[in-house]
Amino acid sequence: MNTCLDEEVLNAITDHIASEGFAIVDHFLPETLVEGLSKILENKYKSGAFHEAGIGKSTYHVAKDTRGDHVLWIEENTVDLFEIEYLARVASFVEHLNRSCYLGIRTTEFHYAKYPIGTHYNRHLDRFQSDSRRKMSMICYLNKDWVLADGGELALYLTENGVETEKRISPIAGRMVCFESDVLEHEVLLTNKERNSITGWLKTA
Ligand code: OGA
Ligand code: NI
Repeated sequence: MNTCLDEEVLNAITDHIASEGFAIVDHFLPETLVEGLSKILENKYKSGAFHEAGIGKSTYHVAKDTRGDHVLWIEENTVDLFEIEYLARVASFVEHLNRSCYLGIRTTEFHYAKYPIGTHYNRHLDRFQSDSRRKMSMICYLNKDWVLADGGELALYLTENGVETEKRISPIAGRMVCFESDVLEHEVLLTNKERNSITGWLKTA
């Protein structure tokens, strides 16, 4: 499947992951796919299929002070054409990652996420809270017409020569962000507008 990412762009992405531990890829999802996935998300949310996300592995529990998102896992064997296209795009990206970064990604898991107005997700690492096989975190945003005043940025905490810097990334439609799950602490800042995404993990065997 054509991901709209040519070899040169893919190489720039994997170089950035190798050197900085993260990458930001705009237009990872084309507009039609953003629209299709957004409709599914909203319909499933309205039907009550989402649940409040929690924290902790052995004692998973909802903790709204820590994270306020609602989530719904995407079925691996979905028959929805938009979800199939989404998973195919991810698969071809993973193929490239494995070829160029030797990451050994074998499986993936993804959920829809909605942050209602006034919610956030405190600073955290993705890996320890639930699954040690999580190698890379990958988030695709579905928010059209997002402006800075809407908040809801992803903050990545990077360390350069021992000095911590914060990189803020707006959750704009079509944008994909990926980073090393066990290394990069991050946070979702308070959102002033409903914030939709597909969040997932690329996992080793
Ligand atoms: C997560 C997470 C970031 C985002 O779900 O673990 O950190 O930008 N999400 O939605
Ligand atoms: Ni996270």
